[in-house]
Amino acid sequence: TFLFVVVGCGGGQTTPAPAPEKQKLTVASDTAYAPFEMQGGPGEPTYIGFDMDLIRAIGEVLGKEVEIISMGFDGIIPALQSGSVDCAISAMTITEERAKVVNFSVPYYESGLITAVRADNNDIKGFEDLAGKKIAVQIGTTGALKAQEVPDAKISTFNTIDLAFLELKKGAVDAVINDAPVTLYFIQQGNEDVKVVGDLLSGEFYGIAVPKGKEDLLNQINDALKTLKENGTFDRIYMDWFGQ
Ligand code: ARG
Repeated sequence: TFLFVVVGCGGGQTTPAPAPEKQKLTVASDTAYAPFEMQGGPGEPTYIGFDMDLIRAIGEVLGKEVEIISMGFDGIIPALQSGSVDCAISAMTITEERAKVVNFSVPYYESGLITAVRADNNDIKGFEDLAGKKIAVQIGTTGALKAQEVPDAKISTFNTIDLAFLELKKGAVDAVINDAPVTLYFIQQGNEDVKVVGDLLSGEFYGIAVPKGKEDLLNQINDALKTLKENGTFDRIYMDWFGQ
C-alpha cells in the first residue's frame, strides 16, 4: 500500500509566497536621554526622539527595517565590538578614544557639556567652582570624563542621566555635568528646581557609531545622511525636536 501525503496544496490552489522580509538594521541606544532618545507614549513608537527619527529616516533610505536595541550607555561600545548590533545612535560624542575602537559617521549634531546645580545654589557659578564638590554623572560619558578633571571632586556615577538628576534634586550632590541640550530639556520638562551655570564646556559632535571593518555600512549611513540633508528631511526632524 501506498500512503500519499499531500503537503501544502489545498485543491490545486497555490499558497501566496510570504512578502520578502526587509533587511534589518539593529541599532544600539541608551533610550533614556531625552530629547534624543526616550520611551514613546501610547500610540507612539516604543522609542521616540531626534536620534530615533533620524535613524528611522536613514533606515528608510537604505530600505532596511530599524530595530532599536535599548541598553546601558556603557554597553554600547562593547556591543559594537562584539558585533551584536549593526550600529549605534545615542547622542554619542565623537572622541579620539572611541574612534580607536569603532568608526563614526560624519557628525550630525553639535553639542557640549554644561554644569547644572539646584536653582537655589548661589555658590557654584560654573565649572570652575566645582573643586571639592559632589558631582553626579552618567557612566561612560564625556561628562564623566570632564568631572575627573575637577580637583578633589567626589564623583558619583549613575547608569542613567535621570538618576544623576534625581540625586541633584534630592540634594545628595552639588552638580551634574552633562550634555547641554539634554540638561536644558530636563529643566524645561518641569524641573525648575534645577538650573544651568557657566558656559558650554566644550564643542562636541555626535556621530553614529559602526563596528570597525564595516566600511560598507558606514558609507551607506554617510550617504543617507547626505541625502536627508539635501532633501530637507534632516531639517524637518531637527525642527520637530529643537525648533520653537
Ligand atoms: N554625548 C555624551 C557622550 O557621548 C553623552 C551621551 C549619553 N547618551 C545617552 N543616550 N545616554 O559621552
